[in-house]
Order: sequence, then C-alpha cells, then structure tokens
Amino acid sequence: MGCGTFSVKMSIFLALLDISCNRECGPRINVPGAEGGGATLPVRVWRQIKDISWVISRNHFATTKPNEPIDIRDNKYEGRLCSETNGSLTLTDLTNQDQGIYSVFIGLQSDQQCTQLYHLQLYKTLTSEDILIHLNVTLSETHNGPCTITGTLSCAVIGSDVTLTWNNTNSPGTEVTNHTLRVYNAQSHVTYSCTARNPISEASRTAHIPCNRDNTEAPVGDYTRQNMIRLGLASVILIITSYLILQHFHGMKIYYKDLS
Ligand SMILES: *[C@@H]1O[C@H](CO)[C@@H](O)[C@H](O)[C@H]1NC(C)=O
Ligand SMILES: *[C@@H]1O[C@H](CO)[C@@H](O)[C@H](O)[C@H]1NC(C)=O
Ligand SMILES: *[C@@H]1O[C@H](CO)[C@@H](O)[C@H](O)[C@H]1NC(C)=O
Ligand SMILES: *[C@@H]1O[C@H](CO)[C@@H](O)[C@H](O)[C@H]1NC(C)=O
Repeated sequence: MGCGTFSVKMSIFLALLDISCNRECGPRINVPGAEGGGATLPVRVWRQIKDISWVISRNHFATTKPNEPIDIRDNKYEGRLCSETNGSLTLTDLTNQDQGIYSVFIGLQSDQQCTQLYHLQLYKTLTSEDILIHLNVTLSETHNGPCTITGTLSCAVIGSDVTLTWNNTNSPGTEVTNHTLRVYNAQSHVTYSCTARNPISEASRTAHIPCNRDNTEAPVGDYTRQNMIRLGLASVILIITSYLILQHFHGMKIYYKDLS
C-alpha cells in the first residue's frame, strides 16, 4: 500500500516534470505573408536541436532536422515546403488555408522538448487602387493669384492591420486627425498623398485637387445643362417667331385677295 502511494506520488512528479520539460521555447511569433507568396517560420532556439515537429490543427504535417532534408508527412504539402539549414520551415504558394496557429515541438539533444507557437497571417499586397481619398473642399481664388483650398481630405483602405499616414502634414494650415487631413487655405499646387502600410506592403495615392479657373467658375456638368436649356429656349422662340411670321403673311394674302 505504501508502495502504491509512492508510485502515485512518483507519477505525479513525473507528470509535473513532463509539463515543465514541455515548456514554451519563447513567446508566440507572428509571421506575416502574402497570398501566393512564401513565409518562413523561424526557429529561434540556440541549443542543440534534434528534431522539429510542425503541427497545425492537430495535423503533424512535417518534421525538420537541422542540416537534413525535410520529412513531409502529409502529401497535401508536397512541393510547398522546404527546410532551412537550421530547421526553420519555409512554406510557399500560401493560401488562406495556411493561415492560423502552428504548434511546433522542438526536441533538444538533451532529451528535453519545448513548444513554439507561430501565428501565420496573410495580407493583401496593397496597391494605390486600394486607397480611396474623399475630398470635401471648397476652392477659393484671388484673381490672377493661385487658388487655395479649405476643407478635409479623408483617406480610407479596406483591409486588416493597415496604418494610414498623410504626407505634407508639416506645412502650415494642415492638421491630421486619424485618417482625415484638414487644410486651411492651402495652395492648390501642394501635393498631399496618403500612404497605406500593412505588414507586407506599402502604397501611396496622391489627392487630385481640381483647381483651375474654368472648373471653379462653372463645373463642366452645369455648362452642358445651361447650353441645353439655351438651345431649347432658342428653338421655342424660333418656332413661335416662324409661326407668327407665317400667320402674318397668310393674313396679308387674305387681305390682298379681299382687296382685289
Ligand atoms: C534560423 O534561420 C531562420 C531563417 O533562415 C532565421 O530567421 C533564424 O533566426 C535562424 N535561427 C537561428 C537560431 O539562427
Ligand atoms: C463637407 O464639409 C462641410 C463643411 O465643413 C460639412 O458641412 C459637410 O457635411 C461635409 N460633407 C461631407 C459629405 O462630409
Ligand atoms: C508627398 O508625396 C508625394 C507623392 O509621393 C510627393 O510628390 C511629394 O513630394 C510629397 N511631399 C512631401 C513634402 O514629402
Ligand atoms: C480617432 O480615432 C479614435 C480611435 O480610433 C476615435 O476614438 C476618435 O473618435 C477618432 N477621432 C475622430 C475625430 O474621428
């Protein structure tokens, strides 16, 4: 009975030992990647490594060993994995299915083991087309002088982990709140651009501020409408005048007929 108690104690002790051995190698490592691109899950353990088991969603899909070829255990990954000389794993042709938490068991030469977590997250490669700039400005102009603008320029991008910045924010009369640039009497020739950055890419777009006299005096759309109205009025007047003239000559004819 005493022996039994001892063995229970012993197994609790071993279980504790096992937990303490199976500790984390280090804090979780976040790895950004681009869809269709590649990403390396880096091994940052400096002790002597025996083998590394790569697991996602309980699927042990590969094993790497420093300076040895990779052992791919799941056919689905064939042709998409390679091992760096230190045992780090590189995945290529990334798809959304590769995103997630990888639990990696690193076996050490000392027969200890530690667990490393990786979070692989895919991002869109940003282009300037992804950036939308909304202008709400009023143009004012001094005759002959340059025209100036007052109002807000807002920048927006759809996507996660995107930071937006405006350049030229040090010029006088500008002020930035979040993604909105407020300008007071800014010279129209100054360019303002919004830059979007995510962990894998960066893109910029410049705000185009329409500022020439023809545009400010009468927007193009109104010009055509005015012309249509003028044309319409002119036609109506022409028709009425022709009708009156015809009526007049007709009346004259009748009058002459009556006279003769
Ligand atoms: C192993 O290689 C990867 C990528 O080549 C690198 O990021 C990592 O720092 C290396 N680890 C060590 C411990 O040198
Ligand atoms: C544009 O700015 C004016 C004046 O600041 C404001 O009253 C108006 O609501 C704004 N319009 C939009 C669509 O943001
Ligand atoms: C702002 O960005 C635009 C476009 O990238 C550039 O032409 C302009 O010189 C920049 N202005 C400043 C003050 O950096
Ligand atoms: C700026 O962003 C913060 C946090 O996202 C928000 O609480 C605040 O209301 C925003 N300010 C304006 C003026 O939109």
